[in-house]
Amino acid sequence: MKMTRINRRVFGRQTLGVAAAAALSSLSVRAEAAGEGETKRMRVGVIGCGSVSNVYLPHLAASPYVALVSACDIKPERAKRQAGRFQIPHHYPHIDDMLAGAAFDLLVNLTDMQEHEHLNRQAIAAGKHIWSEKPIANSLQAGQALLEQAKKRGVRVWGAPTVVNSPQFACMARILNSGVLGRVAAAHADYGHTGPDWSSFFYEKGGGSMPDLGVYNLTTLTGLLGPARSVVALTSVVTPTRNIRGKGRIRVTEEDNAMLLLDHGKGTLAHVQCGFNFFNPHGHEGSKEKRHTISIVGSTGMLGLVGYDWEPLGVDVATTAAADFKRQATDKGGYVWQQGASLVAECLVKGKEPLFTAEHALHVVEIICAARQSQETGQRIDLKSSFKWPVVS
Ligand SMILES: NC(=O)c1ccc[n+]([C@@H]2O[C@H](COP(=O)([O-])OP(=O)(O)OC[C@H]3O[C@@H](n4cnc5c(N)ncnc54)[C@H](O)[C@@H]3O)[C@@H](O)[C@H]2O)c1
Repeated sequence: MKMTRINRRVFGRQTLGVAAAAALSSLSVRAEAAGEGETKRMRVGVIGCGSVSNVYLPHLAASPYVALVSACDIKPERAKRQAGRFQIPHHYPHIDDMLAGAAFDLLVNLTDMQEHEHLNRQAIAAGKHIWSEKPIANSLQAGQALLEQAKKRGVRVWGAPTVVNSPQFACMARILNSGVLGRVAAAHADYGHTGPDWSSFFYEKGGGSMPDLGVYNLTTLTGLLGPARSVVALTSVVTPTRNIRGKGRIRVTEEDNAMLLLDHGKGTLAHVQCGFNFFNPHGHEGSKEKRHTISIVGSTGMLGLVGYDWEPLGVDVATTAAADFKRQATDKGGYVWQQGASLVAECLVKGKEPLFTAEHALHVVEIICAARQSQETGQRIDLKSSFKWPVVS
């Protein structure tokens, strides 16, 4: 199979977090100097050959740490098409066939949100590492059971999003760590668009704007401010029916509008707003969003993330010492939101840990479930889970 090769140092800079890239780059320089032969590649099976696979597959195909082995979709023509486009030697119509077919090491799960949990479970049982689009599982409990199962099977599990890996996240974390914002009081984050029209799962039970969109802001804010201790939320359905291409009119049963309040402890409160009814003059083109979609304010300063956390463009900071906003971290350093699967392949080859963790992803799953419980009961819901924090020190 012919694969596009790119320089390993360039790829590392494009995929790893800034700190990890620095560590890796010295390692890879040494490996090259030692005259190392072919780079070891993780054999990858991709399941789910719909919309997002068009963004993942080019990144995976360009990775020197990946050998694309198989593609799978319950719509077999999609698996066949992507296999043809990306020179993937095997394609299958069902996970059973894929697991019984050509050997691979890492499952990249790009299926409907409701399918991830059971497909991840089945692949772990078959001894595969997992990269899963969000969510890894539909509840904290189910997710923790998956991690237990993976530990016993000797495999690893990671899931989207990768927002903590951007240089802008690192910049915001370092500003917070430096103390220039003083006592951190409040944060706000928002993300929305007018909603996908190609698949109905986004609007059905287990879908919704929180696991599809709010998940990015929740990962960023918990990554910056620490695990949340409790949640209060209001959610609603603004548009009760929608037209889905090839399917017609469907009922929207999961929230398409949500507001969450998070208590991070020490008095720090955050607000996250997400929805599928958010007009945006730029449509959904991340590079054109120049607003602060995330802002954090303390007693002596404030910061704002320019653009989205999944496509960050810079960080503005103002403090009592320098009251005009000063822009920092305008270079993405190669960060792209679709890098997660290629990055974990690289980390598995190199024995390195990425900045994002399954525990962090599951903390966000718990927040989303708690937000739904808060909406149903009118109560503030305490959270149990945590993750390794700070993410960037
Ligand atoms: N589309 C995007 O821009 C985007 C961006 C970021 C993340 N995501 C996430 O990626 C995931 C997929 O989204 P999408 O937009 O690509 O959806 P999609 O509907 O376009 O694609 C999903 C594909 O998975 C297949 N599938 C479903 N169940 C399956 C199963 N059991 N076995 C094999 N194949 C199965 C479907 O047939 C379909 O082809 C979701 O978790 C979504 O939140 C999507």
